[in-house]
Amino acid sequence: MRLVSLFSGCGGMDLGFEMAGFNRVWANDFDKDAQAVFRLNLGEIDDRDIRMVPIDDIPDCDILTAGFPCQPFSNAGNRNGVNDNRGTLYLECLRIVKHKLPKVVVFENVKGLLSTKAPDGNKLIDLIISDLESAGYNVVYKLINASDYGVPQNRERVILVGVRNDLNKSFSFPEPIPKNGLTLRDVLDISLDVPNQVDWQLSPQAMFMISHIPEGGSWKNVPYEILPERFKKIRDNMKKYRSPNFYRRFSRDEINGTITASAQPENCGIIHPIHNRRYNIREIARIQTFPDTFIFIDDSPKNIVAMYKVIGNAVPVRLAYEIATAIKNQLFGDVV
Ligand SMILES: C[S@@+](CC[C@H](N)C(=O)[O-])C[C@H]1O[C@@H](n2cnc3c(N)ncnc32)[C@H](O)[C@@H]1O
Repeated sequence: MRLVSLFSGCGGMDLGFEMAGFNRVWANDFDKDAQAVFRLNLGEIDDRDIRMVPIDDIPDCDILTAGFPCQPFSNAGNRNGVNDNRGTLYLECLRIVKHKLPKVVVFENVKGLLSTKAPDGNKLIDLIISDLESAGYNVVYKLINASDYGVPQNRERVILVGVRNDLNKSFSFPEPIPKNGLTLRDVLDISLDVPNQVDWQLSPQAMFMISHIPEGGSWKNVPYEILPERFKKIRDNMKKYRSPNFYRRFSRDEINGTITASAQPENCGIIHPIHNRRYNIREIARIQTFPDTFIFIDDSPKNIVAMYKVIGNAVPVRLAYEIATAIKNQLFGDVV
């Protein structure tokens, strides 16, 4: 089961597929920080911009995975979709699929993909499906929540699986797993000898804000008088700003929200329930289900912000493992 991995990042998806028994023959990502983590833990990775890679440089494969960049589609970013040139990177996936014709194709993306318009005004997801169908694939997709697959995080993502028609098989998404042991209380108990327990310091303003936020609270607990001016403006007109839930501080009895690459308290739940600080690198790695043996380089200040980025960008390892295992059992069942 030879796997080609595009947009591999630091290797969350790759580790999950490897644990399920797939044999990666080629991986690619042009981000230096992601490459460094990938090499340290998983092995070789091609470092070129995928748009510059000739098709003959990519080995044949049975399965191709691609978590193409999500920023153009995410709610946090702009919504230019395919007009943003990163949005067209899915065309790179299509180019490679058409030449290599793997048995199975797996795409991962943010929820915003489902509402993004293609240049012709149709939905991008419909365009992707019809492109893959024309290339000879039977396609299913689903908006899933990672917490339904053993991940201690409410993280909604679109997973699309294309199966080459001549296999005469179809894929169905695995049943959700009961959400036992997914609260922060289960996740944050880490022994001191586990590496990368360093946190990216919050700004003085953020520190002041969180000192007024109780466990389980958010910026709504901060008294109006002491809010910074820009937050006062939003509080004055919550309807206009759609009642944002900034500075969410999840309680130890909750499942954490989505960890994002920017790791800012304004756009993700990144504050420790009881300590006045961001989650440290190991804590977000655990929320993303990286094993404690997976190392994030070193704890130097110049590395630390980059590690929040690569971890926030990753597909949770456990989610990838569950999808990979279902693919293996349903579509590669006769492979020994
Ligand atoms: C959402 S992340 C993928 C994370 C990965 N699937 C994982 O599980 O860790 C998208 C990745 O695409 C990479 N990328 C974006 N544009 C690229 C390009 N033109 N060529 C190669 N890699 C690119 C980024 O560096 C980033 O690491």
